[in-house]
Amino acid sequence: MEFTIKPLSPALDSAECLILPVTGSSLPAVTAELDAALGGRIGELVTAGDLAAKAGSTLTLLLSGALAAKKAILVQAGEDEQSLLAAARAAARALAGLNPASATSYLAHAAGKKSARSALAQAFVQALITEQYRPDSWKSEKDTPRKLAQMQLSCAKKGDIAELESGLAAGLALGHGMNLTRELGNAPGNVCTPAYLAEQAQQLARENGLKCQVLEQAELEALGMGSFLAVARGSAQAPRLIVLEYRGGKKAQKPVALVGKGITFDSGGISLKPGEAMDEMKYDMCGAATVLGTFRAVAELGLPVNLVGVIPTCENMPAGNALKPGDIVTSMAGLTIEVLNTDAEGRLILCDALTYVGKYQPEVVIDIATLTGACVIALGHVTTGLFANDDALADALLAAAKTSDDKTWRLPLFDEYHEQLKSNFADLANIGGRPGGAVTAACFLSRFTKDYRWAHLDIAGTAWKSGAAKGATGRPVPLLVEFLRQYPAGK
Ligand code: BES
Ligand code: MN
Ligand code: ZN
Repeated sequence: MEFTIKPLSPALDSAECLILPVTGSSLPAVTAELDAALGGRIGELVTAGDLAAKAGSTLTLLLSGALAAKKAILVQAGEDEQSLLAAARAAARALAGLNPASATSYLAHAAGKKSARSALAQAFVQALITEQYRPDSWKSEKDTPRKLAQMQLSCAKKGDIAELESGLAAGLALGHGMNLTRELGNAPGNVCTPAYLAEQAQQLARENGLKCQVLEQAELEALGMGSFLAVARGSAQAPRLIVLEYRGGKKAQKPVALVGKGITFDSGGISLKPGEAMDEMKYDMCGAATVLGTFRAVAELGLPVNLVGVIPTCENMPAGNALKPGDIVTSMAGLTIEVLNTDAEGRLILCDALTYVGKYQPEVVIDIATLTGACVIALGHVTTGLFANDDALADALLAAAKTSDDKTWRLPLFDEYHEQLKSNFADLANIGGRPGGAVTAACFLSRFTKDYRWAHLDIAGTAWKSGAAKGATGRPVPLLVEFLRQYPAGK
């Protein structure tokens, strides 16, 4: 897809489809210009209430030969910045539905402020790129391809071009990162094995000048990762620990570390899951895929941060040599863990990765994991669960969630919950019972993150969609990239 940014005029525009803003019940100058060329048709439709007042409502018009362009999408852009962003995303969706070969967006003409124009271009392009993605890599007949080859972003004056350009770059990077996360998430478990994830990370590193190291079984044994290895034991696929490094910041700047859960298939192990929708447990590596997608976006943007990614990856399978309920394993940190349920395996692989990442002396550590069904019960599929041992870090993540429209809510880590993790036989148990299941899982992790500022994102409800539109969402790549863009330089 080719992007052009310049001031254009809708009445003279020969793109197949034009996107025009409506603000409330009035027409911005650029839309009024098209309205005049159409003899007042747009004004009539808006007065008649054919375009709903809710931001992001759209109405498609056939221009039937009156102009060079064939179609126009009217978008309700509301009166504030948030509404304008919602309009940009809705316009991108409507455009994907029409599937034209060329289009021009005039939305930036409705943005009053510099920052609004940049954010608008970003939101539009990000949505456009993610709308292009189809999960058809494993179909012999591909879905109808998206035809859009020429995309013009118009602005009111030449002085606005630079703002749109920076938004375009951010939108492209985010779209590419999210699509990588989705493609890896959607890949079936027989393709997307721990070895495959490691290869994908190595390829990403080659393409983006990152450092990538892949540790195998023997090295993990030497490191004493008894908890991680216990989960991996029941599978025919050998585990991997993937370590990625991106250096965009000053040499002495401590890195931000991202740790992603990479269970390429979670059967539950000996504590076998019920069969219904078990296929969805191929998505149990979406934390890992989020780390890779975030690295992809950060590298494309060239952000001035130092970043470390750590991905423990294996399968959770039942087998004669598999981990059993009642087994006690020794973590890399030295804490012994009584495994009361082999289906609580995410925390068992993450705890060793969280210990390992300490060697990078990270400024902050953020882990991303499809960790608990309880988080889905608490927050549904709308909101990611956030836990943190540091208020400033939690606040920075919540601010980034707001800016990126990647909804996130903080849940507590109060001391009282640790009672539920007591074991009669080991230092701690790997489950805390049904009450507050998302919290006790996070509390388990917190026992391994005392040496640094840490946040945990439970994405069990938000990393993928079930039902007819089943598939990985690419979340929370927008949240993490926004957090890293805001990350105070020099920290
Ligand atoms: N991968 C699952 C969590 C999950 C469940 C994600 C449903 C998305 C949808 C995790 O490994 C798991 O099985 N957790 C158990 C923990 C329980 C045994 C304490 C759960 O949530 O049921
Ligand atoms: Mn599980
Ligand atoms: Zn799992």
